[in-house]
Parts: sequence; C-alpha cells; structure tokens
Amino acid sequence: MQYEVVLPAAGSGKRMGAGQNKLFLNLLGKPILIHTLEVFEQDSKCTGIWLAVKPEERSYIQAMLEKYRILKVKGLPDGGAERQHSVHSCMKEMEQVDIVLVHDAARPFISHDIIANLVQSAHKYGAAIAGVRAKDTMKKVRDGVIEETVDRDSLWMIQTPQAFQFDLIVEAEDVAEKVGFLGTDEAMLVERLGHAVHIVESSYENVKMTTKEDLVFGEAILRKRALDAK
Ligand code: CTP
Ligand code: MG
Repeated sequence: MQYEVVLPAAGSGKRMGAGQNKLFLNLLGKPILIHTLEVFEQDSKCTGIWLAVKPEERSYIQAMLEKYRILKVKGLPDGGAERQHSVHSCMKEMEQVDIVLVHDAARPFISHDIIANLVQSAHKYGAAIAGVRAKDTMKKVRDGVIEETVDRDSLWMIQTPQAFQFDLIVEAEDVAEKVGFLGTDEAMLVERLGHAVHIVESSYENVKMTTKEDLVFGEAILRKRALDAK
C-alpha cells in the first residue's frame, strides 16, 4: 500500500552541539539527512517525500538531493519555530493521499518492514505509531525521591514514523493550530480528538541522532548492517 512521507528537517541540532544542523553531519561519509532520504527513495511504496527546511538551508539541501540523486522530493516548504509547525507546513502543501507518514529526518535506521506495518495499521485503524518496549525499570520521581515504580509492561518508548489517514492528521493539526496546542509528537494531536492510536512494535536500532554519542551508535549500526549484507 502506497504512502507519502513528511520529513521535518528544519531543526537546529542544539543538543548535538555541532554548530550547524546536525542532519548535515556524516555517518560513514554520508550526511544523516541522505541516509534517511535513501530509505524512502528506495521504498517502492513511497510515492512522495516532503521536506521541511530552513529557508537559508534550502539551496544547500537541494544541491545535496542532486548529488545523491534523491528524486522523490515533491516540495521543500519552510519549517517553523517548532517541529509541529514544520510538519504542518508540509501538510498544507500536500494533495490528498491515503496515508501520510511523519518521520524525523534525524532517524536514518528505520526499516521498510516497520514502515509497511505502520502503513497497513494506519489504513485499518486511522493512526499507528512506532514504539519499543521500555527496557529499564521505570520509576516516577518527585523532588529527587521515588514516588512509585511504574508497571513496565504498559510503558512504550515512542519513535517515528507515525502513520495516519490523510483526513485524520489534517483535522488533528488544524484543530491543534486553532487552539494553540503544541504536542511533542503527531499522535498527541490525534489523541486529543479522542481517536485511538495503535502501536507498531519497532526496533531499538531506530534511534534518533540527538547527541554526540548517538553518532557512535549510528556508525556501529551501519557497520553491522554492512557485515550482515556480506
Ligand atoms: N525539526 C524541524 N523543525 C523544528 C525543530 C525540529 O523540522 N523547528 C526536525 C529536526 O530537524 C529533526 C526532527 O524535527 O529532524 C526531530 O527533532 P530533534 O531531534 O529535536 O532535532 P533538533 O530540533 O534539530 O535538535 P535539538 O532539539 O537538539 O535542537
Ligand atoms: Mg528539537
């Protein structure tokens, strides 16, 4: 089943501390942004990519798309102050499609299998997001003191992609904008409408490149995959 993907790429990468958009940093000689784009370029089910960018980075990114022959990008609208605004600016330019995926440009290791499961689940239920089970013991803490140990079986760590039927995510974003609600992911906007959001079990490899040590994990994942492919 086909889908289009929205990739917010207009952040600053403050926690990476590289003094530039972290998506331009290399993993084994190739920019993080290109690693992510190639996943969708190579997925035959993906029929279009929307990239939210900073206006001052647009021409640099367009040159990168040419260099690495990324052909599926349909638009590169201006990102906004918050990630949610960046996603929304892509949605405003999109034409009606069945399924939209929203995926952090900073997560280059998502697999085609997980994407396919998300698209299928969103087609069936309206909304489906990627997540992994919490591995550590989880406790609720207030003022440095444990309040309670939370039942780990009910806790999931949420990632992207998050997949939606087009009309549902458009409505959720429009309502959020109208009332000035800012969520940390798209699912929160859909949850606010009272709509069920399903979870698809993802992989611990689908890490977000956020701080310096993530680059080390990232290169280790790429090396392991290269070995596995031999
Ligand atoms: N993003 C965006 N527009 C923003 C903020 C973030 O498009 N106003 C994008 C980032 O480029 C990234 C994704 O959203 O691909 C996830 O955000 P995050 O990991 O927080 O990246 P940054 O905001 O760039 O990093 P930081 O929060 O450390 O500054
Ligand atoms: Mg951020």
